[in-house]
Amino acid sequence: MSDSLVCVKDFEKYARLILSRNTLDYYRCGAGDEETLAHNRKAFSKYKIRPRCLRNVANRDLSTTILGRTVKIPIGVSPTAFQKVIHPDGEYGTARAAEAMGTVFILSIVASCTIEELGKAVPNGNNWLQLYVYADKEFTQTLVKRAEESNFKALVITVDTPLLGRRLANIRNKFVVPKHVILPNHMRGRQLFNPSSDWNDIKWLKSITKLPIILKGILTAEDAIIAADVGVDGILVSNHGGRQLDGSPATIEVLPEIVKAVGDRLEVYVDGGITNGSDVFKALALGARMVFMGRAPIWGLAHSGEEGVKKVLDIVKTELDGALAIAGSATLKDIEPGMVVPNSYYSK
Ligand code: FNR
Repeated sequence: MSDSLVCVKDFEKYARLILSRNTLDYYRCGAGDEETLAHNRKAFSKYKIRPRCLRNVANRDLSTTILGRTVKIPIGVSPTAFQKVIHPDGEYGTARAAEAMGTVFILSIVASCTIEELGKAVPNGNNWLQLYVYADKEFTQTLVKRAEESNFKALVITVDTPLLGRRLANIRNKFVVPKHVILPNHMRGRQLFNPSSDWNDIKWLKSITKLPIILKGILTAEDAIIAADVGVDGILVSNHGGRQLDGSPATIEVLPEIVKAVGDRLEVYVDGGITNGSDVFKALALGARMVFMGRAPIWGLAHSGEEGVKKVLDIVKTELDGALAIAGSATLKDIEPGMVVPNSYYSK
């Protein structure tokens, strides 16, 4: 069956057929009029690849180092909530698929398994934990300690969610997490978001852990510079897949200003709207060290659990490999900034 699914869009179409309306809407939807959600995808078309030829691309290598560790592909898995709603494999399936592909898996703090369970199920994975800095510092510190003890390799602090974006589809559907799925890291009744959070919290976090810290949700050079000044290890340029502030720009559009501002001071990653290898190539050429995908692995999970996620990652890997070769780059280091240009380059 999965042989007839040859790109991420095929997996998405399949997921749209089999998931319930409630579930599909929860994973698909964005905030407000969903302009940013749509724009994340469309903005990739505003850039074109200028392929170079006759550069001997016979021996290709998609690996790179992220926070000092080798990843086999520069395509990781962004955190998405309670994956057992999608398939019984849940987060284990997604993390195992990421491990098999030699890449990073980010566990959401609202996962449908505990930090410890994931650590045990995928002990050799390059697992990172996404969380918020809660108003309750003691609770936050406990989570950090649990991540350290379960051999997580980094902490991803989501900074674009002082409160939850207005996702109309979920409001209309009165979405609630199905009763059979529990969110064990996050005690019910505890406030998930912390609107009073500020840069001091990031400084505090740095003081209580040696794990690398990534800030997820940065969209401006100004904030990227503060992040570098505070001394975090990386930023994930993200608009939460268009789920937070409708009207905010596509991530691929803001990537260049951020890379220009801080690209040599910390690692810069990007997510949002990435569904194929050309998208990845463009993001890397515009300065991202690595990209992440949120919904694409979910569509794979909906199809066939761990295998489906692996298939999705493998497809995007194959597409990136093809783009790399045809654009004239044998390795990620051979990708040159001038290989990706805005459309205006051609219409001047
Ligand atoms: C998310 N995202 C998210 N981010 C986060 O920091 N913590 C979370 O728990 C979640 N949960 C979540 C659920 C669902 C259903 C979606 C679609 C997204 C945002 C996610 O990590 C990522 O930034 C986007 O999904 C990236 O965009 P694409 O790849 O989905 O277009």
